[in-house]
Amino acid sequence: MARILITSAIPYINGIKHLGNLVGSQLPADLFARYFRARGHEVMFLCATDEHGTPAELAAAKAGKPVAEYCAEMWAVQKDLSDGFRLSFDHFGRSSSPQNHALTQHFAGRLAEAGLIREVSERQVYSNADGRFLPDRYIEGTCPNCGYERARGDQCENCTKQLDPTDLINPRSAISGSTDLEVRETKHLYLRQSAMKDKLDAWIDSKKDWPVLTTSIAKKWLHDGDGLQDRGITRDLDWGVPVKKGDEDWPGMEGKVFYVWFDAPIEYIACAAEWAEAHGKDDAAWRRWWRTDEGAEDVRYIQFMGKDNVPFHTLSFPATIMGSGEPWKLVDYIKSFNYLNYDGGQFSTSQGRGVFMDQALSILPADYWRWWLLSHAPENSDSEFTWENFQTSVNKDLADVLGNFVSRVTKFCRSKFGEAVPEGGETGERAEALINELETRVRAYEGHMEAMEVRKAAAELRAIWAAGNEYLQSAAPWTVFKEDPDKAAAQIRLALNLIRVYAVLSAPFIPDASAKLMAAMNTDDWTWPGPVAEALQILPSGHAFTVPEVTFKKIADEEREEWAKRFAGTRD
Ligand code: 2FM
Ligand code: ZN
Repeated sequence: MARILITSAIPYINGIKHLGNLVGSQLPADLFARYFRARGHEVMFLCATDEHGTPAELAAAKAGKPVAEYCAEMWAVQKDLSDGFRLSFDHFGRSSSPQNHALTQHFAGRLAEAGLIREVSERQVYSNADGRFLPDRYIEGTCPNCGYERARGDQCENCTKQLDPTDLINPRSAISGSTDLEVRETKHLYLRQSAMKDKLDAWIDSKKDWPVLTTSIAKKWLHDGDGLQDRGITRDLDWGVPVKKGDEDWPGMEGKVFYVWFDAPIEYIACAAEWAEAHGKDDAAWRRWWRTDEGAEDVRYIQFMGKDNVPFHTLSFPATIMGSGEPWKLVDYIKSFNYLNYDGGQFSTSQGRGVFMDQALSILPADYWRWWLLSHAPENSDSEFTWENFQTSVNKDLADVLGNFVSRVTKFCRSKFGEAVPEGGETGERAEALINELETRVRAYEGHMEAMEVRKAAAELRAIWAAGNEYLQSAAPWTVFKEDPDKAAAQIRLALNLIRVYAVLSAPFIPDASAKLMAAMNTDDWTWPGPVAEALQILPSGHAFTVPEVTFKKIADEEREEWAKRFAGTRD
């Protein structure tokens, strides 16, 4: 049994996330948290809302609410939706927590002592119309790298390049739209990432098993152009973690806060502290996950995120951790994802384009979405959501393959043998072949899960379901029953047991359906299948069960067309 720490990139507080956000971090993180728990490991799965920075301020202003109030409300909305999608976080925290304030200021203090922070007097964009400095996202303009016209001051959404607001061409205020901007002097702190370049480079080099998507992005930032640049970590905003050195004031930094990307990853740590507090536990309880001198030396730490987050997690956050000179746990594996597109274009929060988490749950239960999203996760390239593809997947994989198997087996048993696992004789050669096939496939499924290959794992699971159907088709207990009821009974006993095995194997992907199948099979034995032949004997003869209601209903063409139309435009 191992100890596994899993964090998902923490979603921005400003509004409900779309399915592209979900499949890029929280959902796959949940898949593996569930899988590793099912395998008996001790898992700590953390996520939170990313509450600071300009997106939060802008969204609160738009909603006409004080930012703290807006964040508290949106946290509850996001928490509710993550429950709806069955995201099994051990804690869903908030980056605005007191724990994160304290830890962020602590790290800044340590970095300053280590000489890794420099003060820079810089020229920044000031908006005369708005009466304030305009940091990062308050400025929009054309990306100098790719020409995208709606690039924001911190990063271009189109080409992922990290930007400084002054890089933008034709800048305008995102608050008022005013172009009456001027450049003024202001003092800011910079994290001396460049001083840690070699250390970071060697560290990335040591991660031979990381996905290419992760390492290639890290390498690009380390080596392209002038190499790794120092990073501004403070902003002229009201809302955020006030700039301090630990508990001490930072002369010259009054009224400034840390940059949201400085405090957001520190929330991964703070979130564990919030978890401890929420459960009435002491500091040692969370520090054993995070401090290698206090028990975390054998923790395996895995992070999940979309590709636009990779530079911050491979470079900036590790620079913070390493630079602190303290034994905080560094990430062991970074699983990153490409983008999910929506019906011929991009999902977009700012433009309200695509299907958002609340909308998805309003039309179908979580498992339908979980299955489609995970089995089409944008792992090796961007992938695309289309309503046709969604309909096909749901109808084929979930309804025709898994659902149909369960329904045929349980109904046939009820009509011929009653609602209890029948006693029977020999199953025959076909069953042996099935068991051999399942043995290979279940081990392959485990292998893909261990290697964190989401699509391959989904494909293997689908094949495991299909093998049961093929067996049923060729064994044909309904025909055998006429000649040899004993043999038919044995076949059905095996198939009923297979439903339990399916429930256990499928739970990381479709937890609600799995729970329903377990309830129908009247068992709470979630033992992960060792040798398949043994796993297929857990439900003994005479064990009562019930026929479940339809596990998955098919999506009709009319429904698909209606949804496609309903979600074609932009929201709000
Ligand atoms: O891209 C995003 O949605 C960011 N809010 C992710 C932050 S992850 C982390 F560093 F906390
Ligand atoms: Zn760009």
